[in-house]
Amino acid sequence: MSKSSIVFFCNSCGNEFAKWSGQCPACHEWNTLVEATPFLKQERGRSNNISSKPAETFSVKQALASQGGYTFSTGIGEVDRVLGPGITKGGVYLLAGQPGIGKSTLLTQLAISIKSDVYYVCSEENPAQVATRIKRLSKNETGNIHLINTSLVDSICETIAKNPKSLVIIDSIQSVFTNQNVTTPGSPSQIRDSASLLIQTAKEHSTPLIIVGHVTKDGNIAGPKMLEHMVDTVLELSGDRQHLLRLLRTVKNRFGPTDETGIFQMTSVGLEEVKDPGAILLEGRVKNAPGSCLTMIMEGTRPLTVEIQALVVSSPLPIPRRIAKGISLNRLQLICAILTKHLHLPIGEKDVFVNVTGGLDIKDPGADLGIALAIISSAKDKPLSGNSICFGELGLLGEIRKVGFADKMLKEANTLGYTNIYSPNTHHNLKSIPL
Ligand code: TYD
Ligand code: MG
Repeated sequence: MSKSSIVFFCNSCGNEFAKWSGQCPACHEWNTLVEATPFLKQERGRSNNISSKPAETFSVKQALASQGGYTFSTGIGEVDRVLGPGITKGGVYLLAGQPGIGKSTLLTQLAISIKSDVYYVCSEENPAQVATRIKRLSKNETGNIHLINTSLVDSICETIAKNPKSLVIIDSIQSVFTNQNVTTPGSPSQIRDSASLLIQTAKEHSTPLIIVGHVTKDGNIAGPKMLEHMVDTVLELSGDRQHLLRLLRTVKNRFGPTDETGIFQMTSVGLEEVKDPGAILLEGRVKNAPGSCLTMIMEGTRPLTVEIQALVVSSPLPIPRRIAKGISLNRLQLICAILTKHLHLPIGEKDVFVNVTGGLDIKDPGADLGIALAIISSAKDKPLSGNSICFGELGLLGEIRKVGFADKMLKEANTLGYTNIYSPNTHHNLKSIPL
């Protein structure tokens, strides 16, 4: 590659520069510049005369009239719930998740349940593997699924242009490449260029496109951050591979809400919709054990009961450990500091371990009170009363702060039969909770 054909491209904002620097001159992020080829320098195959064609214009009335059958259902209730109106024609969706979490399984089920013609690009697996999965997940004939066995984006676009179908699934963007970029598949500039060509084709033919993306160890979507800006909707499938539960959330959604969560469990016949996730999360719970606290969190617009466990033990180390699974370590350290300052809880020389059962990852600050009560309960070796549940955010002054959807959670707690409910509605600070 000649020197002049190399540019440096920012993984975060997507700008290109002639020279490398430690900090991106445009978005000021550090260490985001990577070597790449310039953005689609060569002319696109069919684009030679595109600029000479005048663009079509529509009145609002015409645009609305052309919306007939604009969205269609996926046939899977929990996926429709997350997407809002279902799949939008010409919409581009990015489904991200850790390897092995069930992305291919979910998309195979989606292709089966849609029933109309679908292209499934198997660039990561070979067609025989995908066909075996389709057979495993469907008892009926699946003549509507057309497997495309190539990793070359240019020929995928050609296939879509010649014979558009009602949905295209690319599994995955990390393993496809375009000839217009000389870098290896999976490189940031290759992902950017491949995605750009696919998105352009999808929009031109009003074909919805679902792109699978991977998630790195630190939880970010692999590839350039700008991939998230290029698509209409970013979906994330999360969960713990050792556990059954899988959550489908929207991180960004141009067509619907971003606060809905689809809840599934992985079974031997694919992902099944879960109507009562609390039952799975609390399965095998030891009642009246010191260090266990039930808390209610919001998953989208649904309240969910989860168990938080804490273990406080004497530490053999000069600097005691704070270990968190399912919540962020910063949050645990903050709650330990609040308990030390406002309740004088003697945990300064103790190791504190906190775990959220069921493999859930909780980001809802409403779980703060549950974490604090589990730690207090373990430190004092005193179980919480059997019929108690809590929710509320903790402030640095030890106060219990209000959280969103409190009424919904209270109603759910009452319906489930909890008699001791600790919440911002009943208690204003930690000191007022009897433990
Ligand atoms: P997969 O969908 O291939 O994950 P991803 O595409 O996100 O990498 O499958 C993930 C796991 O799910 C795999 O270990 C096998 C398991 N699995 C089931 O438990 N049941 C099933 O019906 C299928 C198809 C897969
Ligand atoms: Mg896969």
